[in-house]
This record gives sequence, structure tokens and C-alpha cells, in this order.
Amino acid sequence: MEKIIVTGGNPLRGTVQISGSKNSALPIIAATLLTGEPCVIRGVPNLSDIQFMCDILKWLSVKVTHHKADGVVEVAAKHPLGVAPYELVRKMRASVCLLGPLLGRLHNCKVSLPGGCVIGDRPIDQHIKGLKRLGAEVVVENGYVHARCHELTGADVFMGGRFGSTVLGTANMIMAAVLAKGTTSIEGAACEPEIEDLCNFLTSMGAKIKGGGSHIIEIEGVEQLHGADHTVIPDRIEAGTFMAAAAITGGDLEIKGARAEHLHAVRDKLEEAGVTITRNNGTIRVTSNGDLKPVDVITMPYPGFPTDMQAQMSALMTVTPGISVITEKVFPNRFMHISEMARLGADCALEGSSAIVKGVKHLSGAPVMASDLRASAGLVLAGLTAEGETEVNRIYHVDRGYERIDQKLRAVGAKIERVAE
Ligand code: EPU
Repeated sequence: MEKIIVTGGNPLRGTVQISGSKNSALPIIAATLLTGEPCVIRGVPNLSDIQFMCDILKWLSVKVTHHKADGVVEVAAKHPLGVAPYELVRKMRASVCLLGPLLGRLHNCKVSLPGGCVIGDRPIDQHIKGLKRLGAEVVVENGYVHARCHELTGADVFMGGRFGSTVLGTANMIMAAVLAKGTTSIEGAACEPEIEDLCNFLTSMGAKIKGGGSHIIEIEGVEQLHGADHTVIPDRIEAGTFMAAAAITGGDLEIKGARAEHLHAVRDKLEEAGVTITRNNGTIRVTSNGDLKPVDVITMPYPGFPTDMQAQMSALMTVTPGISVITEKVFPNRFMHISEMARLGADCALEGSSAIVKGVKHLSGAPVMASDLRASAGLVLAGLTAEGETEVNRIYHVDRGYERIDQKLRAVGAKIERVAE
């Protein structure tokens, strides 16, 4: 196992290139199962979660070539198998998005339930409800979701659950509906840019989809899809993380390749906190003189403030004078990083699904434990400002979703190294 050691205090300055979006690439790679023809996906980040998805496809007898250095994944799913086992699925919850394409293509599939998750309860009741609406018989038995049908038929489906619309649930519905007979209307659909990207990919495969990226998506089923060549959108969460890194170090970063329109809520909150953000020719420049104001943040489905940026924003507020309240409305228990930040001297407490953060003058380095992907990003950010050395253990979590984060940070002035534990 590896750990990251950060010595805080250096303001970040320079340019960071943003990689392709993990959360776009994962369902898009799964969607290649909908055709037997070759598909080429570009801009795919080199991350362990992408590797997990490719491994599952290979296990399903699908030909997958991952050109890691070029960010290209080629898939040809001539005769995919329909069973995704626990040993592979448990490594990554996003594997649940195999259900829709496998059911759509094969009309019979079994995908293991992934098991527990440190960011909280992650039920799939909405996925199952949706697939049933399309005429599938879905049962959960022996740890597997078993979905089968004679054929799928278009229907009206509502995808809004207790915590708003579900991203991968919406992806599953879309992928099941593109080959269904007739028209499907998904209401309460997730509006995340990653869903719009999936719709664009499917459209380039010959699917008939209207409204991708909005709350109502209409899909007219087609007989079959063909191969396609697609480039995934830039990773808005990686971009947001570097924006917060510039802010927490009082730095000046140019974020290249990100789409500012996907980062409205994040930009808005950072500006409210006193960070200067300008846009120029496809780059976002983030400048901070370290003079920050506390802000209250409530996470929500897109276009609200993303839950995937909550830990990073919490890190920023730990060193911002005043009191900020960070409330989780998407994953109410996603606060594992808070007690680790307290180890660095942060003054924060949990009240239900909110963290009350009282900014301190400075954090001080200590060993901390990463619990999940975004929590570890939050801890790395805290380490960038803490006095002395912060050791972030279990760094494999960060490698699931950030391509070479240590190298990218080092290139803009961070004192950061990766060492074997
Ligand atoms: N939910 C239900 N029932 C369902 C599905 C979801 O109650 O059937 C609840 C969840 O428990 C949660 C809320 O709905 O409270 C939202 O969950 P959602 O289904 O939208 O999450 P997801 O699709 O499983 C994706 C991202 C997550 C991101 C969330 C929210 C991918 C691969 N994962 O997960 O990304 O946090 O949407 O935006 O796209 C990450 O990248 O670190 C990450 C966790």
C-alpha cells in the first residue's frame, strides 16, 4: 500500500490540465455492451475504477483494449455473458450500471449487489423499480440482482427517490430503454452532465433520445445500435478539487480543459468565500489571497453543489475564520473525513447530516486515514495548508478517481510525495 506525504504551506501556482471524467467514462464503457460493433472511447482517465470496469467487461467475454497512455478504451462486445460476479462487482459500486445495458442487450442478466459503502446507505430500489416498469422481472436472490424479460417495453418512469434523482439509476434506465419497444419517458431524471454525455454517446450509436441533461428524458427504442467513437467530458470534480486547492493555499491556478458551465455551483460558493475566479479561453483561473469568508453549503443533485465536492469544501472551511455549516442532502452520512480533519487540529462537529466547522488559524500535520475517494481528496487539501507533514494513508482511494494527483500538485508547487507504507 502507498501513502501520500504532504508538507503544507506552499501556495499553488501554475497550470493544471484536467483529465476526462471518471463518472462519465464508467457508464459509457458499460453502454458499449449494447452493440456487437466496435466502440472507441477517448479521454478516459487512467484510474483504478476504470480498470475495474474494463476487468468486468473482460470477464463477460468482451474484447477490451485499454490504451492507458492515450486515454483510449476500445470495446467490441460481440457475445457478452450476462453474469457479473461479486468478486469483481464488490470492488466498485458503479458496476451496478451494467444492469441496464446487459438487460437491454441480453434480456437476462445477473449482477451482484456490491455490498456496503463508507459514504452511507446506497440502495438500488429506484433502479429496480425502473427496470420493472419496462416489463422486466427483477428479483434479488443469493446476493445478485437477477433481471429478465421476454422483451422490454417503453413506459413512463419516475426516478426521483428520497434524496432526489439517482444518477446511475437514470443511466441504467436510459441504457435499458434505448433498445426497448416503444417510447420511454423518464421523469425526475438526473440532470448531471455525465448523464448528458451518456445520452450523447448513445445517440452517436443510433439511439433516439431527447432531453438528456434535463429532468425529462424521452427515449424511442430502436431495433439495434451500432459502434461509435466518443470523447468523454472533462472531470468537473477533479477541476473543482484543484479550484479548492488553489483557494486553500492562497494560490493562483489556471485550470485547463474544464467546462466552467459544469461548475457553476462550485464557482458560486468559492466566490462567496472570497476567491477570485475568472474565465479565459477555456481556462478557469482561481486566485486567492488567503483572505476567506465562511460559507454555508448544502449538497444537492446537479445543478446544486455536488456531494463529490463536499469534503474538499469542508477542508477549505476548516481554515476560514468564522463558522460554516456544511449540510449533506445527497449522502447524509458522508462525513468520514471530519474526524480525520479534527486530527489535523480542525474545529468541527457533526450535527445530524451537517458539519459545523469553526475555522482555525492553521492546521498541523498528522497521520490521517483516507476512507473514500473524495474524503481522501479533502485530506490532501487539508495537508496542503497544514503546518508540517500530513501523512494520508490508504491512498488507493484517491487513485480511484484522480489521475496522478500527486504529480499534478507537485507540478504547481506542492510539496507532496507518494511513498510505500
Ligand atoms: N438512492 C436511493 N435509491 C436508489 C439509488 C440511489 O435511495 O435506487 C439514493 C442514494 O442512497 C443517495 C442518492 O439517492 O442518497 C443519490 O445517489 P445516486 O444514485 O445519484 O448515486 P450514484 O449514482 O450511485 C453517482 C456517482 C457518485 C456521486 C453520486 C451523486 C458515479 C459512478 N458515481 O453515484 O460519485 O456521489 O452519483 O452525485 O457516477 C464519486 O465519484 O466519488 C462518487 C461517489
